[in-house]
Amino acid sequence: MNTADKNPEYKKIYQFVKAKLESTGHFNYGPFDETYYTLRAYESAKDIIRKLNRKVKRQQLLVAAILHDVGKSKLQPSKLFSRKEILEHAGEEWHRHAELGVPIAKALLKKLGHSGEFIEEVCYLIEHHDQRGDKLKQRTLELKILQDADLIADIGFAGFIRPFLFSGKFGRTVIESIQFVLKEDRTKDGELLNLNVSKSLARERMKQQAALAKQMAKEIDSDLI
Ligand SMILES: [Fe+2]
Repeated sequence: MNTADKNPEYKKIYQFVKAKLESTGHFNYGPFDETYYTLRAYESAKDIIRKLNRKVKRQQLLVAAILHDVGKSKLQPSKLFSRKEILEHAGEEWHRHAELGVPIAKALLKKLGHSGEFIEEVCYLIEHHDQRGDKLKQRTLELKILQDADLIADIGFAGFIRPFLFSGKFGRTVIESIQFVLKEDRTKDGELLNLNVSKSLARERMKQQAALAKQMAKEIDSDLI
């Protein structure tokens, strides 16, 4: 490990990702605000490391957590959503973001003085972060953590607000959104998690999310609807 590998410039890397996302005019606000979800993935990865109590390649993992979705800046929004909804065949375009992120990350990390080995390890994580379940036979511990952090990032407060952000972008009412968050069950996401510590973190956050939804649902418990 060289000096840059030992002390990555996390803030600089985040600023770089943020600027890329802002340049799209789609991934920096509302339900697809990756400047927020990137930050949440990074913090969730730290939460998992803290609870895991195992030796991990912390620097590579955290750098990958910041860069994992930078490839979204290369997606074509016209293939993803219209003004009213997410398009039916958007999945194919979404899936490209992992591999599209690799050359962007490579060029940045090279510029920041990271070693070839470090860059390869980060790029492995970015390229495979979306391949869950039986899509991969083996995963490094760092990939397991990144995949879990990516899911957990959207559970809890973040998961609670996302339906409201959707309502702002796609014209759904607040009442409908409250009814949506109340019904939302993230247990399926929990089943996709790799590590037990992530499962317990997810359970905690799901409780938090459900409690918020219940509290808000009380406020629309009215004889008008
Ligand atoms: Fe992703």
